[in-house]
Amino acid sequence: MNAPVDLTFVRVRTPRLLLRAWRPDDLDDLYAYARVDGVGQMAGWMPHDSRSESERILRRFIEGKHTFALVLLESGRVVGSLGLEEGRVFPASLPPSALGREIGYVLARDMWGQGLMPEAVRAVIRLCFSDWKWDYLTVGHFSWNDQSRRVIEKCGFHRIGEIEMATRCGTVEQVYKYCLTRADWQAAEPAAD
Ligand SMILES: CC(C)(COP(=O)(O)OP(=O)(O)OC[C@H]1O[C@@H](n2cnc3c(N)ncnc32)[C@H](O)[C@@H]1OP(=O)(O)O)[C@@H](O)C(=O)NCCC(=O)NCCS
Repeated sequence: MNAPVDLTFVRVRTPRLLLRAWRPDDLDDLYAYARVDGVGQMAGWMPHDSRSESERILRRFIEGKHTFALVLLESGRVVGSLGLEEGRVFPASLPPSALGREIGYVLARDMWGQGLMPEAVRAVIRLCFSDWKWDYLTVGHFSWNDQSRRVIEKCGFHRIGEIEMATRCGTVEQVYKYCLTRADWQAAEPAAD
């Protein structure tokens, strides 16, 4: 089942990133990456066509309290988002009372290919399993999104199924779903507790 979450006061450091709750003054950075063609479509949404659209999404991030802003430490720029969303697919190997959520993420196009999202996802996995003792995390990608598939594979998730999803881009996508349980993560991570 979906775990309760409130990221308002949560801060996570990685070598290159600070993960923290979104703030009203992040609007320019959000609009700068969300307006770029070819980014949002890979996650099922169209590029933002105005600052007011970004403002609406930013408000949703802040009020929802389950989405991190990814801040590049060297510049302070917000270069992406990582959400702990309510999942619709649950691991069959765990009881219905098991706690977890579904990860979703987007990175500014000019930052692709430097391993930043795997760095963020690994830190969030550690937060959810080591600090919060959640039982599982799920994640998914559109069948053709090899970039996201690589992030998911590098972070140790296992494929558990697929569903069909209508997107805000007007397409219907096959979504491949993956899961990582705390038990699998502990077995694979020498430093896990
Ligand atoms: C998916 C995404 C978050 C990956 O983040 P990232 O920090 O670039 O991840 P990585 O650096 O590990 O790169 C992942 C793969 O992308 C590919 N890639 C790298 N640089 C690339 C570039 N400039 N252009 C296209 N693909 C590239 C490579 O295949 C890489 O896999 P590899 O490490 O095996 O070579 C990013 O591509 C993104 O934001 N995409 C748009 C939104 C999206 O797809 N969200 C996920 C929805 S499920």
